[in-house]
Amino acid sequence: MCGIVGAIARRNVADILLEGLKRLEYRGYDSAGMSLIDGPDGEIVTIKTVGKVARLAAAASDEGASGRLGIAHTRWATHGKITRANAHPHESGGRLSLVHNGIIENHEELRRQLRSKGYEFTTDTDTEVIAHLIHQELSGDEGASLLDAVSRALGKLRGAYGLCVIDRRQPDRIVAARNGMSLVVGAGIGENFVASDTPALGQVTDRFLYLEDGDLAELTSDSIRIVNQGREIEREIATLSGKVSDMDKGSYQHFMQKEIFEQPRAIRDTLSGRVSGERALEEAFGVDAGEIFDQVRQVQIVACGTSFHAGLVAKYWLESIARMPCQIDIASDYRYRDIIVQPGTLFVAVSQSGETADTLAALRYANGLEHTATLAICNVATSSLVRESDFCVLTMAGQEIGVASTKAFTTQLTLLLVLAIVLGRRNGLSSEDEARLVRDMNRLPALVEKTLGLDRQIRKLSRQFSDKHHSLYLGRGIQYPVAKEGALKLKEISYIHAEAYPAGELKHGPLALVDSDMPVIVVAPNNDLLDKLRSNLSEVSARGGKLYVFADESIGLENDRNHKVIKLPGCPEVLDPILFTIPLQLLAYHVAVIKGTDIDHPRNLAKSVTVE
Ligand code: G6P
Repeated sequence: MCGIVGAIARRNVADILLEGLKRLEYRGYDSAGMSLIDGPDGEIVTIKTVGKVARLAAAASDEGASGRLGIAHTRWATHGKITRANAHPHESGGRLSLVHNGIIENHEELRRQLRSKGYEFTTDTDTEVIAHLIHQELSGDEGASLLDAVSRALGKLRGAYGLCVIDRRQPDRIVAARNGMSLVVGAGIGENFVASDTPALGQVTDRFLYLEDGDLAELTSDSIRIVNQGREIEREIATLSGKVSDMDKGSYQHFMQKEIFEQPRAIRDTLSGRVSGERALEEAFGVDAGEIFDQVRQVQIVACGTSFHAGLVAKYWLESIARMPCQIDIASDYRYRDIIVQPGTLFVAVSQSGETADTLAALRYANGLEHTATLAICNVATSSLVRESDFCVLTMAGQEIGVASTKAFTTQLTLLLVLAIVLGRRNGLSSEDEARLVRDMNRLPALVEKTLGLDRQIRKLSRQFSDKHHSLYLGRGIQYPVAKEGALKLKEISYIHAEAYPAGELKHGPLALVDSDMPVIVVAPNNDLLDKLRSNLSEVSARGGKLYVFADESIGLENDRNHKVIKLPGCPEVLDPILFTIPLQLLAYHVAVIKGTDIDHPRNLAKSVTVE
């Protein structure tokens, strides 16, 4: 995922920009660049390199680059190959330089229009059209401020962007704009900054102003002006001195707890640049993704542990949304099976760490197959899985420290749903259905936030579990993998034996275990299988079993002698697996707190299993 840093000061900002880019390396990138302007009569100096920020830093030092105004970028290729030319910043007419995160959907049409007006294109990127559009606005109206020119140019764009632009003829300002991609302004004293994320500016300021969609910001060294739809806007400056970093628990008792509560942010970041208002953006999977997706006839998912459960959920989405056959295997089994691989298989390796030995071995095997493209869905940009797969898409969960995976799981699900939509588009999914699904996905962070509001209620409930030795988790259809993930969480950190069953299988065995000492946890969304699930609940009650039902509030299930009901906010059906996971994470966590286990480092387990 691309990263942006900009700075305007009374000192040389080159090192501030480079340090900012280094701090954004975790987002993943393949090339880097920066533009600087030094003083009122300065030229634009642009330096770009393919590869690491360290290379850019070396090139900048060789050139003795310096400037009091600058913008910088790390690029994760979407439109156009990984080349120096395609790296940002992009210039127009020798006076403008621009960096951009996101995807411009109507870039081809704009490119044609700009070409007809004499603009020459030197890159394959969608971004270059923005630079030329702004240049066109400035050339047509020499008195126009950079902010006004940017505002007019943005009116012609369709898509998502976070961008920063500088103009040699107005060298006292940076203009930044946000629509669908995160962008923050950092306030200094006699200097101001902008970046795609706060960590990029941690070395220069702890005061931040979060831009919102539609915001345009004009930064000088002494002022920050925000305009939205032509009106001046005041945005509050927040001081993040006590900011919790990934490595710091902050006010939370455990990393796992912190990571559970980070999920709205993690999902929002993961959606950013992967969906726009009504479309899933396949470009987010990389430059060649569209061509690869065109060849896909079926999907093979391989993963371990929690990531395997994400794959199990995805199978349902791939079948129902993409109408595509999907096979899912545990990596340690896949590598030793006599697999039959059909031509046109998309191999998807799902992993938080990208270093799990079995998942890597399965990927390496798949890399050797003909007619199979390999896609990594991973949380670590620098991992072996990302480096060795044909293409990849990163979950933006941020570092996950608790051994029991939480935010990595829900962000994997988020991307797997995007994948189902982009494959579905080739297989009969209508643009209306796509738009509806994407609108639903955009509600996800807020719905997760609301679901986290059940925390107190679940903490109270957890007291009824802490003396138990066994538990049964039930779900039907797509909720069965959710039940499996809930059971895994409980056993990993509380050491209570937990087993998950598809609810329809109850009477084929596990019913024999049900008695008053065996809590039965059920996930009950409001879907087609609800009536069948109700019958399964009756089967448990009739045998004296104690039921704990996590139910969609709309199904009208109330507490009684046999049921304890925890109501979840109603949500679009496609989001059920993600939302119903949250209370199960909280339940496991609170039971483990009562039991006093080592929650972040449960006995015998490792965060990343790099041996077979
Ligand atoms: C270990 C971790 C789990 C994780 C699994 C797969 O068992 O404890 O939390 O789900 O490995 O790891 P991966 O990094 O490939 O997702």
